[in-house]
Amino acid sequence: MNYYKIDIKTIRTEKEGMLSFFEGTRAFPFEIRRIYYIHHVPAGARRGAHAHKTLQQMIFCPYGSVTIFLNDGETEEQILLDDPGIGIVLMPGLWRDMLWNIDNSVLCVAASDYYDEHDYIRDYDEYLAYLKSKKEEARP
Ligand code: TYD
Repeated sequence: MNYYKIDIKTIRTEKEGMLSFFEGTRAFPFEIRRIYYIHHVPAGARRGAHAHKTLQQMIFCPYGSVTIFLNDGETEEQILLDDPGIGIVLMPGLWRDMLWNIDNSVLCVAASDYYDEHDYIRDYDEYLAYLKSKKEEARP
């Protein structure tokens, strides 16, 4: 599936605590145009239910626990984000859902582009049709 996990660089600082950081195009292969984060979500809530046509994202959970469900039209995978030092890089074209495991978990996204509703596919049947048309386009 078209995603991978990364270790976000994390250092133990002289003062108590840890510090994590990443730099676009060093930690993952795109420049960051937008950062957004989802917070104040109760445990048990689900969000997402969409795919992006071109957007690339690096998703991480700096506080709490969120499960990411990925689907590429053929297979499904679950990734538990409960460690501020782990991120996942999502390439375009993946359907995703997110489940909040703990109240007030924070989900952060570093994205390759500005917000554009036209880049979203929010209907699952439309998503499957989109994948099919992409496959047909790619045929010689
Ligand atoms: P959406 O991406 O659907 O959230 P989620 O995947 O967490 O369910 O976005 C929810 C709403 O917020 C939608 O109306 C679009 C708006 N939005 C922006 O205006 N700017 C942004 O950068 C993002 C990510 C969403």
